Amino acid sequence: MCGIIGYIGKQEAAEVLMEGLRRLEYRGYDSSGLALLNGQGLTIQKAHGKLQRLVDRLQKDPLFGTVGVGHTRWATHGIPNEMNAHPHTDCKTEIAVVHNGIIENFREIKKSLEGAGHQFHSETDTEVLPHLIESLYKGNLFQAVQQALQRIHGSYAIAVVSAKEPNRLVAARKGSPLVLGLGKNEFLVASDVPALLKQTREIVYLEDGEMVDIGVGSVRILTIEGKLIQRESIQVDWDISQAEKEGYPHFMIKEIMEQPRSLKQTAAGRIQQGKVMFQELEVLRAGLSDPKKINRVILLGCGTAYHAGLIGEYLLEKFIQVPVEVEMSSEFRYSSPAITPETLVIAVSQSGETADTLASVRHAKKQGATVISICNVVGSSITREVDATLYTHAGPEIAVASTKAYTSQLAVLFLLSLYLGGLRKTAPADENERLLGHFKQLPEQIEKVLAQSSNIQELAGRYAQFDRFLYLGRHVNYPSALEGALKLKEISYIHAEGYPAGEMKHGHIALIDDKMPVLCIVTKSSVYEKMFSNLQEVHARGGKIIAIATQGDSEIRGLIQDGVYLPEAHEFVSPIIVAVALQLFAYHVAVHRGLDVDQPRNLAKSVTVE
Ligand code: G6P
Repeated sequence: MCGIIGYIGKQEAAEVLMEGLRRLEYRGYDSSGLALLNGQGLTIQKAHGKLQRLVDRLQKDPLFGTVGVGHTRWATHGIPNEMNAHPHTDCKTEIAVVHNGIIENFREIKKSLEGAGHQFHSETDTEVLPHLIESLYKGNLFQAVQQALQRIHGSYAIAVVSAKEPNRLVAARKGSPLVLGLGKNEFLVASDVPALLKQTREIVYLEDGEMVDIGVGSVRILTIEGKLIQRESIQVDWDISQAEKEGYPHFMIKEIMEQPRSLKQTAAGRIQQGKVMFQELEVLRAGLSDPKKINRVILLGCGTAYHAGLIGEYLLEKFIQVPVEVEMSSEFRYSSPAITPETLVIAVSQSGETADTLASVRHAKKQGATVISICNVVGSSITREVDATLYTHAGPEIAVASTKAYTSQLAVLFLLSLYLGGLRKTAPADENERLLGHFKQLPEQIEKVLAQSSNIQELAGRYAQFDRFLYLGRHVNYPSALEGALKLKEISYIHAEGYPAGEMKHGHIALIDDKMPVLCIVTKSSVYEKMFSNLQEVHARGGKIIAIATQGDSEIRGLIQDGVYLPEAHEFVSPIIVAVALQLFAYHVAVHRGLDVDQPRNLAKSVTVE
């Protein structure tokens, strides 16, 4: 949802900003731009399309200067084109602003500024900001930005520079993420940590309603009201190489391949003497272990995180035996669920910045619920608002389609279910131990699925020309079907629908013909026989079946066209290895279709607007 960056230091800012934008491109990639102060004034370069177009422009027409701002856009107001690309400027092209978010009252502000003679050139909401700052400027950029923000409703992370004060960079956030990087004789602000990693690992996470006023060699953090804030920086342990492709053609395949390792990182230190330990939940232990204090669970998330929540529902209900519901955050935030202080809300989010999930967390907190998050990005907005966070520790995920973060979310949900079951004594200790034994085998089992990548690639080649797919699964692997279909839709633009296999006969069976492959998750489990019957139903109607099955299953062979055979896993951990097979299938189909796997059209990794 747009990436912003700002730099002030001693290096050529264009290089630093472009490097940062490259790492923010996952947030939006329909246009981009830079504005630099070069001693004589503001110079700007913009391009419509991927960041490479801006790189090409800068090669022909470089920008110089050691202070500047940059932007990569995911359009909300105004179509993607050069005119609507950021940075936006005031009438005299002295003030440049980059913005992530939405200014809700921009029409009214624009009207009044136009009345006062300001000339607008774009269709964006953002353009009101440089004009508003211009109209309020009385020799102090920080104060002008501060006053402008007090008139604005909506969400924003912004970075502002002005030719009138060439050694100053002002930034602020409310509702959109922003981090400050403290380098050697240089400072940066950006939407996300990977954009800063080349310069520094010393980071300060800014809170909503905060501003930074940066000069050469000095930085102040203040609230929008002007109160000075003291905040310790933190040292992030992400390595720059984790944000590189490391020889893979796409981030997505690199991240799929990383899953044996990411899963180990997720589990590290959390299994001790045959038991699950979550240090992070110690503060909530008394409440969590008492069925009278927590008698209901609501899981929240969007997209892939929502699918992880759906699987979590089966696990939590099984192990802690309380009612569990799962809601899409975008629906939950406007619903009136009867939340009480006895409700535990679990927000699942890779980025920790998804606007709907963040708003839902606030909604739940306001009503007195205990709220925890399962999150990948340390220090992100959601993690700062909840009572406790269980980090997934999957490392940075760059590809828009989520892979390793999803399997790590599933791992945390599995471990959390056993942990809560253990606290409440609703799950027998020996069963917990047995299941942990199955869980520990996952990295090795995933290696075996990954080793089939070239077979899955061939299989994908045979199916890449179809334009609709049905994914069927049951029980814990019904959400796997939803997630598999989502992966295919996101990166292949093929219409795919996930459905519970048992429901097929109530409607979807009418769709079955030889033009719609049916991908069936039929791994060995308590519902294997039921799935087997569904396979027969599809087969009897001439459907083409691709089975995701368990190694050694010869019974299904007569019914299916193709199969991917997975190591036998306990059904409660099976969605993790099933996910890997479905990710590989979607990836290879998209590659066969020649599509931009890491940056699919119209999507963005982190949806920080509603
Ligand atoms: C976007 C991404 C999805 C992701 C969803 C939720 O739609 O493209 O991959 O699942 O947002 O993101 P979150 O960061 O909250 O998990």
